[in-house]
Amino acid sequence: MPKRYLVTGGCGFIGSHLTETLVADGSSVVVLDNLSTGHRDNLTNSAEFIVGDVRDHKLLSDLAKDCSGIFHLAAIASVPKCTQQWHDSHSINLSASVDIFEMAAECDIPVVYASSSAIYGDAKRTPIGEDDPKHPISPYGADKYAMELHATAGARTRDLRSFGLRFFNIYGPRQDPHSPYAGVIAVFMRHALAGTSITIHGDGEQIRDFVYVADAVAACHAAMGHLHDRKAAAAEVSNVCTGQATSIRTLVNSVADLIRPDLNISNGPARAGDIMISVGDPSRLNRILGLQPSTSLSDGLRSILTHH
Ligand SMILES: NC(=O)c1ccc[n+]([C@@H]2O[C@H](COP(=O)([O-])OP(=O)(O)OC[C@H]3O[C@@H](n4cnc5c(N)ncnc54)[C@H](O)[C@@H]3O)[C@@H](O)[C@H]2O)c1
Repeated sequence: MPKRYLVTGGCGFIGSHLTETLVADGSSVVVLDNLSTGHRDNLTNSAEFIVGDVRDHKLLSDLAKDCSGIFHLAAIASVPKCTQQWHDSHSINLSASVDIFEMAAECDIPVVYASSSAIYGDAKRTPIGEDDPKHPISPYGADKYAMELHATAGARTRDLRSFGLRFFNIYGPRQDPHSPYAGVIAVFMRHALAGTSITIHGDGEQIRDFVYVADAVAACHAAMGHLHDRKAAAAEVSNVCTGQATSIRTLVNSVADLIRPDLNISNGPARAGDIMISVGDPSRLNRILGLQPSTSLSDGLRSILTHH
């Protein structure tokens, strides 16, 4: 029987890529998005689209009841914005997520949701494994970790079936470069294409684990398949990472090499609270979901250019 999925945040960066692949696989998709950071144009015409807020309980339950599963990606996805809008972001990032978990448990359908590497905070060792300590240092990270705790409690008490994906730094086409909270790759690409100078915060030695969006979407599909196969209650989690360390300095040089070798690059003051090293261990992703994110940074950057 063809499957029908609810994708929250489906007009956003990751959600729009996920929606596209679900539709291409023959599933029917209903997207719920309030267009706060997402764009209608990101969405394939074959998906049903409802403009609305994930905090609208009645709307959510109407949409969820005909679905075979929920991909819950809607969130205020920016660490600084969540810090500025602490309570408001909490109501979206955590309270609405708990509502979705409860609804999924009542409808007996699985939920795949976006967690984040932000739950680890300033990790003491790398690569970071799933069982390493969680010390979120921002309201955003705290809400993502609390989602996982609720998912675990929901499995124990309400037979919830869920899979939390701890995305590291996801990048790719459609990542909005104009937002004040845009991801670093989108910002660097925008400057390189416009020929304007790039300022690196701090010395550029911050280390990140960059994951191409198609690899993140593959993890969403695999996690949902895993939950469909597994009928019992579950609260699974996995890193979505490559295990490859890339410094911000290396990244900026790669962007310059690709687009504009004479790009003007300078260093500005470091950002308070910037995490120095964030590289994940992908072995659980490989073991449980059979995935090894494999798109190289240079191929991923080239693909952004192609879609530009
Ligand atoms: N991009 C990354 O590197 C990354 C890393 C870790 C975790 N994540 C998580 O992955 C998910 C998707 O992130 P993204 O990068 O695609 O961000 P995005 O901002 O492009 O997408 C989020 C979408 O949610 C929608 N939204 C926000 N608040 C809403 C609300 N109250 N009701 C309905 N829709 C709402 C936005 O309009 C947007 O379309 C988020 O949960 C984010 O926290 C992303």
